[in-house]
Amino acid sequence: MKKVLVLNGPNLNLLGQREPAQYGTDTLATVETLCKEAGERLGVEVECRQSNHEGVLIDWIHEAGREMAAGNMLGVVMNPGAFTHTSIALHDAIKGASVTLIELHISNVHARESFRHHSYISPVARGIIVGLGVKGYALAIDALVQVSQAT
Ligand code: DQA
Repeated sequence: MKKVLVLNGPNLNLLGQREPAQYGTDTLATVETLCKEAGERLGVEVECRQSNHEGVLIDWIHEAGREMAAGNMLGVVMNPGAFTHTSIALHDAIKGASVTLIELHISNVHARESFRHHSYISPVARGIIVGLGVKGYALAIDALVQVSQAT
């Protein structure tokens, strides 16, 4: 069974308590359960990881690239959190490791502060899901499976 890696970046460990008007009240543990259930429905193995550290996320992207090259992984669903708007290093990692990646944001970043309107990740993402709440994670996994089958 092929794998999908779900990566959550900084502050997403605070889901449930953090700005509920933006991000809802579901915890990261609930989101990870939703992701695993989506994987079961779609016939893929879902692994979920979260880190507040840019370098750790970069290492995981590199690992995903190796897993994809070995034919074990379809790709990555990633909510890069605030690194979306700052991290050229994550952009370079996704590109350099040739990772198929769906970028996801729980909130509609385009309806928020202007500093959230630019993403360093979008140019290297296969697709983007924005503003659909935590349900977006299951949609992103579904999308990754579909684009992987199409290519
Ligand atoms: C976020 C949006 C980002 O702007 C923010 O920094 C986050 C979460 C989202 O899921 O809506 O941490 O990626």
